[in-house]
Amino acid sequence: MNAPEKLPANPAPHVMNTYGRLPMALAYGRGCWLWDTAGKKYLDGLGGIAVNTLGHGHPKLVPALQDQVAKLIHSSNYYQVPLQEQLAAKLCELSGLSNAFFCSTGLEANEGAIKIARKYGHDKGIEKPEIIVYEKAFHGRSIATLSATGNPKVQAGFGPLLEGFPRVPLNDIGAVERLAQTNPNIVAVFLEVIQGEGGINVATIEYLKAVRRLCDERGWLLMLDEVQCGLGRTGKWFAHQWAGIKPDVMPLAKGLGSGVPVGAIVCGPKAANVFGPGNHGTTFGGNPLAMRAGVETLRIMEEDHILENAAQVGAALKEGLARGLAGVKGVTEIRGQGLILGIELERPCGEILGRAAEAGLLLSVTADKVVRLVPPLILTADEAAQIVAILVPLIKAFLAEPAKS
Ligand SMILES: Cc1ncc(COP(=O)(O)O)c(C=O)c1O
Repeated sequence: MNAPEKLPANPAPHVMNTYGRLPMALAYGRGCWLWDTAGKKYLDGLGGIAVNTLGHGHPKLVPALQDQVAKLIHSSNYYQVPLQEQLAAKLCELSGLSNAFFCSTGLEANEGAIKIARKYGHDKGIEKPEIIVYEKAFHGRSIATLSATGNPKVQAGFGPLLEGFPRVPLNDIGAVERLAQTNPNIVAVFLEVIQGEGGINVATIEYLKAVRRLCDERGWLLMLDEVQCGLGRTGKWFAHQWAGIKPDVMPLAKGLGSGVPVGAIVCGPKAANVFGPGNHGTTFGGNPLAMRAGVETLRIMEEDHILENAAQVGAALKEGLARGLAGVKGVTEIRGQGLILGIELERPCGEILGRAAEAGLLLSVTADKVVRLVPPLILTADEAAQIVAILVPLIKAFLAEPAKS
């Protein structure tokens, strides 16, 4: 491990001040454990915000990435990239879809999905295509994905936002049906199967089936943002698979490269040929290092039965939290599936993030009142029990304090 480093001032003098950061820096990780520059140890309940699928320093991933770095990091999409075909084929096998485009981040995958929907509409002669989006959704911070996002706080100051995103509440099929009756410009429905940033809000199985049915009847694209909830986190490869449906467009990122930036738009036959040469592109997307990270992540996940682990350890974690917090006044709900869990409190609880870190647990607070756990999918039952042992007393102590006005 490195010797303790002196941290810069917080906020750092030269890094743009876009995050309220804790006064600590992580220097080293193994499995689900991290150490900061002062040598303090943390249990990772955050996974770099649902990114570090295989935890830190994974003994199978690290040598594969080292091998790839030594061979070739980046070439260009001017040339064939065999690893792209390998990763695309694997994603298609796992999803039952047919083609993938590679990019580097979640917002980029979603931006591409929005472009696909618009072009799909134009190809059908709809001049002003519109995409149904959701209250409390989060799709990214570019202007198009921000316009699709349903959080006025993150949109504030960036108007004018894009038109063409009629918004509905989650799990209210009547709201989608009413738009179907009144708006002939709709070409797609775009939602997260589990809203992550919005507070771990789960689309019900009946709702997903009903939206799929409506999209089929109307010739709309069903676009499921699985950037946060996908890739094994719920215990299936993709969260929508619990509903036995398939999307037409599925943006992915976060966990796909286990920490190396990899994004993808995976499409079924209705959407796979909407883009042709020249319609979309990226410099970094699909480069050999990113593709190797994706291929190896999926390979190791299969080999090590990571989906089963996420389902089992996630269920144990949820049960442990439910048991520990049963009857505690101020806990509204514990929800989520597998290793994407949220504990909603009745009041804003942002300070739990810092208090948990002090107690040796990394997590996040989202939608003001929801403590979110999205740990590496290699979390063990014992580590889940340790999360419960740290978090339950912390939440109880927080709720026992008088609310700040
Ligand atoms: C569901 C969802 N979509 C898109 C994004 C944006 O991804 P990125 O930060 O990689 O641009 C996020 C990020 O939190 C997300 O949770």
